[in-house]
Amino acid sequence: MYLSKLDPEKLKKQQWQIMQNVAAAAIVPIMRIGDELGLFKILANNGPCTDKKFSELAKIDHRYAREWLLALCAAGYCNSDEEVEVFHLSPEQQAVFAYEDSPALMIGAYDVLSGNVHNIEAVRDAFKSGKGVEYHKAHPCCFQGTARFFKPSYAANLLKKWLPKVSGVVEKLQEGGSYADIGCGFGISTLMIAEAFPDAKVYGFDIHEPSIEKAISLSEESGLSNRINYQAADAKSYNGYFDVIAFFDCLHDMGDPEGAARYAYEHLNEGGVIVLVEPTASDNPRENFHTIGQMYYSFSTMGCIPTSKSQEVGLAIGAQAGPKKLSEILANAGFSEPQIAHKNASNMVIEARKK
Ligand SMILES: C[S@@+](CC[C@H](N)C(=O)[O-])C[C@H]1O[C@@H](n2cnc3c(N)ncnc32)[C@H](O)[C@@H]1O
Repeated sequence: MYLSKLDPEKLKKQQWQIMQNVAAAAIVPIMRIGDELGLFKILANNGPCTDKKFSELAKIDHRYAREWLLALCAAGYCNSDEEVEVFHLSPEQQAVFAYEDSPALMIGAYDVLSGNVHNIEAVRDAFKSGKGVEYHKAHPCCFQGTARFFKPSYAANLLKKWLPKVSGVVEKLQEGGSYADIGCGFGISTLMIAEAFPDAKVYGFDIHEPSIEKAISLSEESGLSNRINYQAADAKSYNGYFDVIAFFDCLHDMGDPEGAARYAYEHLNEGGVIVLVEPTASDNPRENFHTIGQMYYSFSTMGCIPTSKSQEVGLAIGAQAGPKKLSEILANAGFSEPQIAHKNASNMVIEARKK
């Protein structure tokens, strides 16, 4: 009987670990509401200010405003004076929560977390049936959250650290080469490439039409729409031949990643290169048992596995498949010598060439 075998110290430690996770999860709706109502930006622009003043500026009820501020202070996401009357966001808190164009923005993670809670029933049923849940059935929060959450990392790394490590890619694009961003979502990476390489012929493809529509409107807002050709297309059905084909955080979402890689191989020009950006992970799941692994395995259970299982083949490799599995997929698709070109705490870049 488990109760007689309990170690009180181990139990206390386990319970404390749960309390920390529960507290972190409890803040999710607080963050989402703050984001939707623009509260972080109002506090950033007007702090330090009293809760009363803040509620007036934000045009929200004073009592809700104060409790929201207290929850944030308890989480270490906001600061108050000794009397707990005046509140402000530090420059770092402003950078992660308040400004959409901040290079350090992290608030998008809460879109994905909220979206995943909305998706519980569909994914719970899929646990029983073994079937998938199509990407378009996810809550819209997941789509915008993905784009917002990845954007700062792409902004910091894509042009400065990732592409320069893949030999020949920068030169190809500078010389007007062709580039396809497969599973481009809102086209955040696509926009960055189009802006940095004005002579390159840039294409973005995604199976999800609403994401392509959003990508088109973002390219129009940025004045780059004439440099990008977006099309709603599956990774095994787009048209054209390219010098560089990239998959940003999406190959593992596909039902048939090997088929998608083989199709990319067939649609690369001679000497062309495939660039995969995937979550950093070890081949050994035990080595992924840490904070980032907790996040990715959870996102994967709620999003990547159901999406992949909803598609042809349904391989469902998961968000942390690891370099060995990903390299195997590329090699089976015909690519020579897949290798990790760059790696940081959250992402790894794998490159492989057409023989
Ligand atoms: C996690 S999102 C990443 C989006 C984008 N690359 C980014 O980094 O923001 C995965 C994307 O893969 C797309 N996707 C999934 N399966 C696909 C397929 N078979 N063909 C094309 N796109 C696919 C989804 O629609 C979604 O936009």
